[in-house]
Amino acid sequence: MIEVRNLVKEYKTKKGKVTGVDHVSLHVKRGEIFGIVGYSGAGKSSLLRCLNLLEKPSSGEILIDGIPLTSLRKAELRKARLKIGMIFQHFHLVSSKTVFENISFALKAAHKNKAEIDKRVTELLEMVGLSDKRNAYPAQLSGGQKQRVGIARALANDPSVLLCDEATSALDPSTTQSILSLLKKINRELGLTIVLITHEMDVVKEVCDRMAVMQNGAVVEEGHVYDLFTNPANPLTKEFINTILQFSIPASLLSASPGKIVKIFFQGAAAGEAVISDALQTFKVKGNILHGKIEYIKDVPLGIFIIELTGDPAEVDRAIHYIQSRTEKLEVIQDAA
Ligand SMILES: Nc1ncnc2c1ncn2[C@@H]1O[C@H](COP(=O)(O)OP(=O)(O)OP(=O)(O)O)[C@@H](O)[C@H]1O
Ligand SMILES: [Mg+2]
Repeated sequence: MIEVRNLVKEYKTKKGKVTGVDHVSLHVKRGEIFGIVGYSGAGKSSLLRCLNLLEKPSSGEILIDGIPLTSLRKAELRKARLKIGMIFQHFHLVSSKTVFENISFALKAAHKNKAEIDKRVTELLEMVGLSDKRNAYPAQLSGGQKQRVGIARALANDPSVLLCDEATSALDPSTTQSILSLLKKINRELGLTIVLITHEMDVVKEVCDRMAVMQNGAVVEEGHVYDLFTNPANPLTKEFINTILQFSIPASLLSASPGKIVKIFFQGAAAGEAVISDALQTFKVKGNILHGKIEYIKDVPLGIFIIELTGDPAEVDRAIHYIQSRTEKLEVIQDAA
């Protein structure tokens, strides 16, 4: 669907060259929601803006549906761009135009006639839940409503790809939730491929199928969100994952423990509880649950328990082996021995 090959974007500034994107290769599959995560300045927006050639890459290739955007002529590129919608953190609506006019602008650009425009805007407003705001001005809307207008405008010409640059970063948590639900809905119902930039792991966890982590212009890790949550390899990925999976156990509790403390990841909590009780019945060890939590990674439960296991050290090790064989992952986070 989207193929990025060896993409480089350099900016020329007074102080010399700045590399925004540094040899990035990525593949985004049709119909998936792909997240790009990274700290400020990592190159996320530069990469996204290159995807629709809002920014001209210094080198490398971008193919969307097999069409090499990077080698299209101006008129062809304009046409190809209509199939790529984009939404922004600060919405970018025209304040002097009504909701209807903001959305119809995109349709006029595609040379649609008045009747077609009217019909399409009506459909779009219904899809984003704003039918009653047709004649309102942006200043009369809440942030969440403005972003819904942004989404309607981006979808106007039936794009196959939607690019979202920090689309929920200016919104409060509950409005963020409603916008994410809307994105999931249009992804599901329209089969739209979505590339979403964010620095919030909560957003990735909620909606993304796969993700890439960026640092200094480069992609340092890429994979299925669930896999990266359970087995992140890169330290930066770990840092991002930890913003969600961090558990603080009091240091006094850790230092006083006579046994081993393990962190266990299960696909689903019920499965986890069964494995732990089986282990405690099979081996002569005591288990003390210090922490437990279930996270939903795009609706798939990931259960995490922190358990202290005490008893004869060999028996504790046997219990650990047993649990390990039946779970996604087990980490020994403290070993008193
Ligand atoms: N127009 C520009 N001219 C010069 N340098 C730029 C330009 N746009 C971006 N950069 C530089 O490229 C690098 C990547 O910036 P980019 O905006 O892509 O980061 P980002 O990951 O989107 O950050 P943020 O989370 O703050 O939006 C930064 O070092 C930035 O200063
Ligand atoms: Mg940015």
